[in-house]
Amino acid sequence: MMDIKKRIDELVKIINQANVDYHTKDQPTITDFEYDQYLKELIELEESYPNYKQIDSPTQKIGGFVLDGFVKVTHQVPMMSLANVFNEEELRNFDDKIRKVVPSFSYVSELKIDGLAVSLVYEAGLFKRAATRGNGVVGEDVTENVRTIKSLPLKLTEPIDIEVRGEIYMPHKSFKLANEERMNQNEALFANPRNAAAGTIRQLDPKIVAKRQLDLFCYTIVNASSYVKTQDEALKYLKKLGFKVNPYHEKLEDIDALVNKVSVYDSLRKTLNYDTDGVVIKVNEFDLYERIGYTAKSPKWATAYKFQAEQVETLLKDITFQIGRTGVITPVAELEPVFVSGTTVARATLHNEDYILTKDIRIGDTVVIHKAGEIIPEVLHVVKEKRTNLKPFEMITSCPVCGTHLERKPGEADYYCMNPECPGKHINTLIHFASRQAMDIDTLGEKVVEMLHELGYLNQITDIYLLHQYRDELKEIPGFGDKKVEKLIQAIEASKKQTLDRLIFGLGVKHVGAKVAKTLIKHYPSVNALMEAKYEDLIQINEIGEMIATSIVSYFNDDKVKEMLRLLSEFGLNMTHEKEESIAHTFNGKTLVLTGKMESFSREQATEIIEKCGGKVASSVSAKTDYVVAGEDAGSKLKKANELGVKVLDEEEFKVMIDGLY
Ligand code: IVH
Repeated sequence: MMDIKKRIDELVKIINQANVDYHTKDQPTITDFEYDQYLKELIELEESYPNYKQIDSPTQKIGGFVLDGFVKVTHQVPMMSLANVFNEEELRNFDDKIRKVVPSFSYVSELKIDGLAVSLVYEAGLFKRAATRGNGVVGEDVTENVRTIKSLPLKLTEPIDIEVRGEIYMPHKSFKLANEERMNQNEALFANPRNAAAGTIRQLDPKIVAKRQLDLFCYTIVNASSYVKTQDEALKYLKKLGFKVNPYHEKLEDIDALVNKVSVYDSLRKTLNYDTDGVVIKVNEFDLYERIGYTAKSPKWATAYKFQAEQVETLLKDITFQIGRTGVITPVAELEPVFVSGTTVARATLHNEDYILTKDIRIGDTVVIHKAGEIIPEVLHVVKEKRTNLKPFEMITSCPVCGTHLERKPGEADYYCMNPECPGKHINTLIHFASRQAMDIDTLGEKVVEMLHELGYLNQITDIYLLHQYRDELKEIPGFGDKKVEKLIQAIEASKKQTLDRLIFGLGVKHVGAKVAKTLIKHYPSVNALMEAKYEDLIQINEIGEMIATSIVSYFNDDKVKEMLRLLSEFGLNMTHEKEESIAHTFNGKTLVLTGKMESFSREQATEIIEKCGGKVASSVSAKTDYVVAGEDAGSKLKKANELGVKVLDEEEFKVMIDGLY
């Protein structure tokens, strides 16, 4: 037994150190493979020996149970914001005002990270709570989500009580991945990394947060003068405690040095892999803060110098139109290629007709573009002075692929090609059906679909499952060959076993992304059940609103769709969802809250058992809670349960109730 405890301790140390090296110091010391192996071993050991789970175990960063909502937190010291300055003159004014009050002082300049502020509370060096800024006075408890951030230390290098503040942000790489996933799932894209970070931190499922790979820079200590004397020292101390501190900060002696520095930061930021929107300038000496003072909203000893987003002019050569699988038509700006915020941009979405008309964008115009969130190219406006007699934009009236008259539905901004036989739609439908998130037919990518469509082998989904009849002909296609064809046919065969939610998602029903598909099959566990689904019943489901329900009903009521699904069933595709075994149990449909430490199970294990019984685990106690399971050292939640008269179970009682399930 002792050996197991030792091994767990050792693994915790190795993985925590690897996290620090990779995420805080940016200097990896072990390979991803080694990391995964250690983590896997630790997860397994902790599952078998929950008693030995360490308080700072890195397995907490995987994301625990789904939350019910966010509890409000009143900040010990309000989280203020900063006043802004936008140019050198305003910056010098800021300096003048301070100099009138205190003649001698220094500054610290820091990058202004474009994310969301967070407060982190540690007790005896252990991470206890994270809260959002909220309205500055009251924020929300996002502890479980923040815990998943790899660079967040769960245990500091000193066993002190401290509150630290910093900025949670989404690195560009994570932003790109998050948006790729949303695109695949047919969900609206995040406009920029800041929105993505803010949206992610308010996720109720910490596992999703863990996947999104947020990061954190810390920059402030609350009541800092009890620990150090200056901001410069505070940053050093934060680093020493184990926090990730942005490396670009400087102690500067006067305003001239500051003015110079600001332009250096402005060039620097274009090379960084996260968004910054300015420079934060702080008086360095804490003992001067009270004298310099505060306005109602912000300190007078600090300000934010805001950068201008990079904007460049270029020529709008043409407006082309793309068709999606639902038939939606998207206008695209074809630009004279131009370098902006790190890459060459030649195309930008123009969203829809209204967007173009509101900005009065015309082919041949000189336009100003930028990258929204430093990533997505966007046309900001037209340089009207450079316009020569150009024709106003007119939306196309017929489909660029099949020529069918386009329709714009009342209340919608988009035009659609309504021709069910439109080849543009067909190709995109097929690509989507075969995609990784849907039926995952590995070898049936965009190029192959386009080619097989062009050659007449593929027009609709059912054709995919008839391809094997043409294997000899296919092998004759230049560049296709024996091996490729066999691989393709095998992948198609394997896809027949895919789960029902993937099939539903793959069909490309408008507004039905991967997540909605998963929800749908829980209520309608077969294609037949879905075909019978009634609008009134669908809208009763939490995630499904009127728009989605209407789209589902109209899709499955189409005779052509019915015929396609009948054929797919005949071809042997899986058309049903095996419901997970649910047991008749006292906890079925009940809400439980876990608190304190149990001897025989970890929180995750207890949650799993409760969910198996059909119950739900919530994070906070309310009148709606049915049971509170209180382990050792249960605190405020147990108190609240007693106050509200909620039934409390101790570990022994809980064990009896779940007898045989663990
Ligand atoms: S110090 C009194 N330092 O900018 C407020 N803030 O506009 C002290 N921010 O709410 C904040 N980088 O969310 C500080 N290096 C930095 C920062 C920073 C980003 C954010 C923070 C704050 C907002 C103010």
